[in-house]
Amino acid sequence: MHLSLTALVAVLPAVALAQGASGTGKTTRYWDCCKPSCAWPKKGNSPNPVKTCDKNDNPLNDGGNTKSGCDNGGGAYMCSNQSPWAVNDTLSYGWAAVNIAGSNEAAWCCACYELTFTSGPVQGKKMIVQASNTGGDLGSNQFDLAIPGGGVGQFNACTQQYGAPANGWGDRYGGVHSKSDCDSFPAALKAGCNWRFDWFQGADNPTVSFRQVACPAAITAKSGCVRQNDVINETPTN
Ligand SMILES: *[C@@H]1O[C@H](CO)[C@@H](O)[C@H](O)[C@H]1NC(C)=O
Repeated sequence: MHLSLTALVAVLPAVALAQGASGTGKTTRYWDCCKPSCAWPKKGNSPNPVKTCDKNDNPLNDGGNTKSGCDNGGGAYMCSNQSPWAVNDTLSYGWAAVNIAGSNEAAWCCACYELTFTSGPVQGKKMIVQASNTGGDLGSNQFDLAIPGGGVGQFNACTQQYGAPANGWGDRYGGVHSKSDCDSFPAALKAGCNWRFDWFQGADNPTVSFRQVACPAAITAKSGCVRQNDVINETPTN
């Protein structure tokens, strides 16, 4: 079939809507060791919630029903393999706590966003993050990147899980200051801590432009969470 240019142009706005959220936003960083919110059942439209781990970083097969290590007596923690990693010099993969303006947790849980950094030393580099979490303290279009040693922030299960200092490693907000601070980290979190000073070049909350993309299989293989009809059937947010 041959589509005329007029017909093609008429189709474009619908395609743009179907691709999900996009815009500009900001980043912060955290690693609180808590069970992320998209690890509870039925938060998004994925049949499976984000995987969590027990105190010893072994995967839980609990259907998402174990209380968070941040709650009294809870036994579910963030798995260390939900740490960021470099795919190559200009692309990394990872996870984030997300807040998208005009949207809601049901729409963003386990959705993926391609971030293009627009400030700081990583300007021009890209990172694809899967939304594994949200946060009552997040502003609109904020991506709180999950980076070990990035600061525990509002909640802290790292003391319970890894024996971290009472306010987490380094500053409660922002975390450790240099790569050498990662040397004494638990083995499972070291690579993610180092990533911040290697690929991420110690960037301090760079701004981003973002667009929703279908999740790379390398990400969902680790999180276990895959949205049904990823991206194409997202409800437009306006
Ligand atoms: C990095 O990997 C992505 C995804 O495979 C690819 O599209 C891109 O060209 C790569 N960039 C470099 C510099 O190798």
